[in-house]
Amino acid sequence: MTTALDTARSLRQRVDTLTEMGTLPEVMMRIMELARDPKSSALDLAAAINQEPALSLKVLRTVNSAYYGLQRRIMTVPDAVVVLGFDEVERLALTITIIDSVKLDENGFKALRALWRHSLACSIACTVCELRFVSRMTELRGVHVAGLLHDIGKVILGSHFPDLYTRIVHAVKDTGQDSLEAERTMLGGITHCDIGSWLAERWNLPEALVAAIRDHHAPAVEEQTHPLVHATHVADCITNSLGYSAQPAGAHTQVSPVSAKIIPPDDHLTGAIREQLLRRQPLLSAVSSGSMF
Ligand SMILES: [Fe+2]
Ligand SMILES: [Fe+2]
Repeated sequence: MTTALDTARSLRQRVDTLTEMGTLPEVMMRIMELARDPKSSALDLAAAINQEPALSLKVLRTVNSAYYGLQRRIMTVPDAVVVLGFDEVERLALTITIIDSVKLDENGFKALRALWRHSLACSIACTVCELRFVSRMTELRGVHVAGLLHDIGKVILGSHFPDLYTRIVHAVKDTGQDSLEAERTMLGGITHCDIGSWLAERWNLPEALVAAIRDHHAPAVEEQTHPLVHATHVADCITNSLGYSAQPAGAHTQVSPVSAKIIPPDDHLTGAIREQLLRRQPLLSAVSSGSMF
């Protein structure tokens, strides 16, 4: 009989095997470094993307698609950065790279579209937090990368353990059980936060990003907690409360008091996030319908 501990152990081994098969593409590391470097320019980002011709082609194809509704055709990546902004192009390039590197098959991918939509929405919400608070907390620079990756553990679950993932989704939907509790019950005491942080460590991501992935549902009370963790948590809750959760049943919307002190989830912030999400609606819909990739 398989015990809870066996399940947890086999998940860990599987995640280790996955990351041994392929390290994070160099271009993705470079793009993430640029996200956190205040001195980086649009040209640096464009140069990093252009190093991978397949990636720059996909970026240009997407920015020229109907999802962005641009008036004129964008011919080069630097132009895309000028027209759409640094964060937007970076988010797009990272999304494309992550989807390629996780190597989902068609079925796995279908099941995870709602999750990508949620991750993209959370990343957009993180950008709003970043713009609003970065002058006081420079550590928030690049938080949109954390927003994009915070639920990567669920991506691994859904793509490589689809049966377990489906059972968790059904348990939450049918019994109203808390989603993290359902994960702990079925995964031998671990959650998607643990799985995501294992992966992030294996990818050698910066500690603040690993912490944001590990603690985005439970930011610690200690003051040492990186602002990135609080911003990711607040952005995740607001995104869920605005209806952009991966699974409506059991979505977490309650901001922890400790994070609320640092990033207050007031009407102003929520309104600004709602507005940005509405503006990106065609792109978000394209992700959930699967037509984007
Ligand atoms: Fe999560
Ligand atoms: Fe989330």
